[in-house]
Amino acid sequence: MNLRIKPLDEILATAEKKTLHKTLGPFQLTMLGVGAIIGTGIFVLTAEATQLAGPGMMVSFILAGFVCAVCALCYAELASMVPVSGSAYTYSYAVMGELVAWIVGWALILEYAVAASAVSVGWSNYFVGVIDRAFGWHIPITLAKGYFAGGFINVPAIVIGALVTALLYIGTRESAWVNTTLVVIKIIALTIFCVLAVPVIHMENFHPFAPLGAVGVGGAAASIFFAYVGFDAVSTAAEETKNPQRNVPIGLIGSLVICTIFYLVVAAGAIGSVGAQPIIVDGVGLTPGSAPFNAACRLAANAGTLACSDEPLAHVLAVIGWTKVASLIGLAAFLALPSVILMMLFGQTRIFFVMSRDGLLPEVLSTVHPRFKTPHVVTVITGLFVVVAAAFLPVGELANISNSGTLLAFAMVAIVVMMLRIRDPERRRGFRTPWIWVVGPLAVLGCLGLFVLLTGAAKTVFIVWASAGLVAYYLYGYRHSHHARAEKAAGR
Ligand code: ALA
Repeated sequence: MNLRIKPLDEILATAEKKTLHKTLGPFQLTMLGVGAIIGTGIFVLTAEATQLAGPGMMVSFILAGFVCAVCALCYAELASMVPVSGSAYTYSYAVMGELVAWIVGWALILEYAVAASAVSVGWSNYFVGVIDRAFGWHIPITLAKGYFAGGFINVPAIVIGALVTALLYIGTRESAWVNTTLVVIKIIALTIFCVLAVPVIHMENFHPFAPLGAVGVGGAAASIFFAYVGFDAVSTAAEETKNPQRNVPIGLIGSLVICTIFYLVVAAGAIGSVGAQPIIVDGVGLTPGSAPFNAACRLAANAGTLACSDEPLAHVLAVIGWTKVASLIGLAAFLALPSVILMMLFGQTRIFFVMSRDGLLPEVLSTVHPRFKTPHVVTVITGLFVVVAAAFLPVGELANISNSGTLLAFAMVAIVVMMLRIRDPERRRGFRTPWIWVVGPLAVLGCLGLFVLLTGAAKTVFIVWASAGLVAYYLYGYRHSHHARAEKAAGR
C-alpha cells in the first residue's frame, strides 16, 4: 500500500527555499509560548475544575502538566530536526504518510478553531465583570451566555471573535513587543494573585481533598489540559527562529515550565484561601455548565462559591478583601485574552494554508487577498465557525472539544519521534528527548488517558469530526494531493 510519505528531505528543502526572516531568539520564543499558553484555562476554567474535582484539582493540574511536559519533550526533538511550519501535521506527513497527516491536520483545525471559541467565551466572562464594575452596567445573562450555557446568545464572545477575525483579515500579526507587553501583564496579574492569596491559605480548605473521587480528578485533568495548550505554537515559529535546533526546545520547554509553576501556585492559592468544594446534590456532583448546575448557582447558598464564579481569579481576590485588585485582575484578563484568540486563529489559518498548499484542501482556501496579502477566504470561514460556536456553547465544553483534537496531535508527535529514532537514527537532532523509550510511551498513554476522561459530548464531536474528515479526504484530498501527483509524474 502506498502511504504517500513525503520524505523529510523534501520537506526541509521546501522550507529552505522560503525566505522568512530568522529573527526570533530563545527569549522571544519563550514569551511567544507563554503568550499562547496563559489564557482562559487558568483565568476561567479553574472554576470548572473546582466543580469537577474540588481541592483535588491540584492533582489535576499536576497530571495535565505532566502529560504536556512529556509531549513537549517529544515536540522539542521533532522541532529541532524538522524546523518547519505546520507542526504535527508536517511531521506526520514525513513519517506516517498522507492519510495520518490529514487526520492530524483535521484534528488541529478542531484544536485551534474551537480553542479560539473557548477563549472568546472566557473573555466574555471577564468583559461582563469589567463593564459591571467600571460602569455599573449589568449585561443580562440571556445576552452574555450561550443557549447551552444557561443564556441565549453570547454577544460579547461574538463581538470579540469577529473583531479578532477582522484584524487577521487585514493582516495584523501581533508584533513581538505587543505580545511581550501582554505576557508581562498576565505574569504581573498572576504574581499579584499569588502574593495576595498564598499567605491566607488555610489548610482546612483542602479537606475533603477529592470529594468526587478519582473520576472527578481525572475529568478535571482532561479539562484543565486546555490551560497548557499553546506551547506547540512555539514549534510553528521554527522557520523564523535563529539557531532553531537549540532555541526551539528552549522556548517549548521554558514556556511550559514557567506556566506550570504559576498554575500550581495559583491553584493552591485559590483553593487554600477561599475553599473549593464542588456543588453536590444527593451525592452527585453537578455537571459544570449544565442546567441543574446553573440553577444551583443561582441559589443564594451557592452564589459565592468558586465553582460558580465566571471570573474565578477576580472572585478569589474579592472574597479575601482585595476588591480593587480583583478589578485589576479582571482588567488584565480582559486586555490579554484577545491575544490568545489571535494566536489560535492564526495557527488555524496556517494549518489550513499548509494543507491547501499540499493540495489536500481546495486551493481557493489559500487565495491571498490582493491588498492585504492575507489568506482572507480561510480567515472568514474560520471566523464564522468560531463565532457561531462561541455564541451558543459553554466554555468548558468548548475547551473539552478542543482538547480532543490536541490530544490526538500530541500523541501522534510522540509516535513520530519514536518511529524516527528507529527509521532514521543518524539524522542530526539538535535536541534529543531524554529516555525516549520511557517518555514517548508515557506521552502516548497520557494523551490516551486524558482523551478517555473527556466528556462524552466532546468525544462524540471528535468522532463525528474525524469521520467527516475521512469522507472529505477521500472525496477531495486523496485525488488532488500534490505529493501524489508529483510521485506519479516521476513514475514512482
Ligand atoms: N492555554 C490557552 C488558554 O488557556 C489556550 O486559553
